[in-house]
Amino acid sequence: MSTLLRPPALHGFLSLRLLGTATTRTLPVEQPATVTCRGHDPCDPSEAVLLTFEDPQAFKVKSAWELVRALTVFRFCSYPVLVNNCGKLMSVARGLLGRRGFSLFVRPTVYAQFVAGETEGEISTSMEKMSSLGLRPMLAVPIEEDLGESTGFVDRERRYDDNLASMLECVRISHSSAWSPDPMMQLKVTALVSPELCVKLTSLMKKEQYDLDLLVRAMSGEPISFPGLLESENTHFLLGLRRLDQIAQASIDKVRVLVDAEYTYMNPALSLITMAMMKKFNQQSSWIWNTYQCYLKDSRSLLLEAIHLSEEHSFCLGVKLVRGAYMDKERQLANKEGRMDPIHQSWEDTNDSYNGSLDVMLNRISQNPGRYQIIVATHNEESVRHAVTRLGALGLQRDEGSVCFGQLLGMCDHVSLTLAQQGFSVYKSVPYGSVDDTLPYLLRRAQENRTVLQGIRKERDLLRHELKRRIRERVSGGRWREREREGEREREERRERGG
Ligand SMILES: Cc1cc2nc3c(=O)[nH]c(=O)nc-3n(C[C@H](O)[C@H](O)[C@H](O)COP(=O)(O)OP(=O)(O)OC[C@H]3O[C@@H](n4cnc5c(N)ncnc54)[C@H](O)[C@@H]3O)c2cc1C
Ligand SMILES: *[C@@H]1O[C@H](CO)[C@@H](O)[C@H](O)[C@H]1NC(C)=O
Ligand SMILES: *[C@@H]1O[C@H](CO)[C@@H](O)[C@H](O)[C@H]1NC(C)=O
Ligand SMILES: *[C@@H]1O[C@H](CO)[C@@H](O)[C@H](O)[C@H]1NC(C)=O
Repeated sequence: MSTLLRPPALHGFLSLRLLGTATTRTLPVEQPATVTCRGHDPCDPSEAVLLTFEDPQAFKVKSAWELVRALTVFRFCSYPVLVNNCGKLMSVARGLLGRRGFSLFVRPTVYAQFVAGETEGEISTSMEKMSSLGLRPMLAVPIEEDLGESTGFVDRERRYDDNLASMLECVRISHSSAWSPDPMMQLKVTALVSPELCVKLTSLMKKEQYDLDLLVRAMSGEPISFPGLLESENTHFLLGLRRLDQIAQASIDKVRVLVDAEYTYMNPALSLITMAMMKKFNQQSSWIWNTYQCYLKDSRSLLLEAIHLSEEHSFCLGVKLVRGAYMDKERQLANKEGRMDPIHQSWEDTNDSYNGSLDVMLNRISQNPGRYQIIVATHNEESVRHAVTRLGALGLQRDEGSVCFGQLLGMCDHVSLTLAQQGFSVYKSVPYGSVDDTLPYLLRRAQENRTVLQGIRKERDLLRHELKRRIRERVSGGRWREREREGEREREERRERGG
C-alpha cells in the first residue's frame, strides 16, 4: 500500500510516452511493444482527427493520491444539493472551524484540485510538471470583486495598488522561467478598477459613446475628465487606467494578457477599457486579448463589433472564446429585476452560439493570420473536435500560433493531454493565491454546470480505470513475487534433492 501511494517523483519529468514505456518495463510480464502505442498515435496522421479523448494514458502521470482526490472532489460535485448550497456550506464550515481550521480542510482537497498554490515554490512545481507534459501554464490571479465587496473608501486605492503589485508579479513569473514558449496570463479588470465604477460606466455607455482615444490618452497620463462621472469617480478611473497601463507596459513583447469577462452589468465597461488597451498595445501583435462569453444572447454581435472596431482602429484582435461561468447568478439577477434573461434559453443554443463565433474567428484567421488570434477555451470535446476539423478544412497549421486551446487546472486533463499529444498549443489556466482569495473561484468551479459535469463523469471513469489498473498491477505484481519465491523454493528443494 505504501508503494501504491508513493508520489511518482520522477514521472513529472518524463513525457507521456516515455512514461508509458517506463511503466511497462516495471511490469513483471514482458508486454508487447504495441501496448504503449495503442489508441490515437500521434505518429499516425490518419488518426489525428479522431480525437476520442479516451486514453487513460493521460492519467499515468498522476500519483495515486491525486487520483483519489480528483475522484472524491468530482464525486462531491455530482450532488446537486451540495453544489447548489456549497456557498452556504463553506461559510458555515468557515464559521465553525475558524479560518485556520477551514483552510486545513479545504487546502488538501478542493483547493489542491483546482488551485496551484500560494507561494512561488508551489506554483513553480505545478508549472514545471505541466510544462514537462507539453502543456503551457497560464497564470491567473483570481483577485476579483463584485458589487458591494469593496471596503472603505480611503483604503481603496491602496488595495488596488496591492493588486497591481500582484499582477506585475504574475507578469514576472509568467515570463521568467520559460515554462511556455509563448506565455499568457489572465487578468481581471475588477481587481484594479472598482466594480461600482464599472457598473456606472456601463450604464453611462447606454447613453453616450466613449471615445477609445480618450481612454488611450488617459492611460498615458493625461488628466482627462470623463463625461458623466463625479470628480472622485473620475480620479479613481484615471488611477485605474494608469494601473492597467503599467501592467500592459510590463507585459508587452513578453506575456500575452487575456482580460476576463465577468458579469453583464459591467462587461461593457470592461470591454471598453480592454479595447483601449488593445488600441494602444496591439499595433504589431495581440498582446492584450478580450473574452467573449457565448452563453450571452448578444455574444455574436459583441464579437462582430470587436472585429469591426479592430479594423477601424487597425489593431490586432486576440479573442478568448468561452461559454461563460456566471450563468446562475446572471439569471437570478435578471429574474429579480424583471429584465430579460441575457443568457441563451438552453445549452443547445449556447452550443450553437459557441460554434458560430468559433467559425467567425477561424474564418478571419484563415484570411489574416497575423491580425487575429483565438484561444478555444472549453472543456467540451465536441467543440474541441469541431475546432480541430475546421482548422484542417481551412488549412491552418496546428503549431502556427493563431489558434490555441485552453482548459482549467484540475478539469478535463484528458482533453488537454490528448490535444497536446497531437501537437496543438494547449494552455492550462493556473489560478494561484490564498484560500480566501480563491474561494469565489472555487465556488464557481463546484457550480460548473451539469454539461461540464458530464465531461467530468467521463474523466471520473478514466480516473477510476487508472486507479484500478494500478491496484491490479500491484496485486498481480505481489502474486508474481509470491510465485517467484515459490519457484525459488522448488529450485532449492530440487538442488537439495539432487545434491
Ligand atoms: C482558459 C479559460 C478561461 C476562462 N475565462 C473565463 C472568463 O473570462 N469569463 C467567464 O465567464 N468564464 C471563463 N471561463 C470559464 C468558462 O466559462 C467555463 O469553464 C465554461 O463555461 C464551461 O463550459 P465548457 O465549454 O467547458 O463546457 P460545456 O459543458 O460544453 O458547457 C457548459 C456551459 O454551457 C453553458 N450552459 C449550461 N447550461 C446552459 C443552459 N441551460 N442554457 C444556456 N447555457 C448553458 C454555461 O456557460 C456552462 O458553463 C474560462 C475557462 C477557461 C478554460
Ligand atoms: C454542438 O455544436 C457542435 C458544433 O460545434 C455540433 O457538432 C454538435 O452536434 C452540437 N451538439 C448538440 C447536442 O447540439
Ligand atoms: C456551425 O456554425 C456555422 C456558422 O454559423 C454553420 O454554418 C455550421 O453549420 C455550424 N455547424 C454545426 C455542426 O452546427
Ligand atoms: C446547472 O444549471 C441549472 C439551470 O440550467 C441549475 O438549476 C443548476 O443549479 C446548475 N448546476 C448544476 C450543478 O446542475
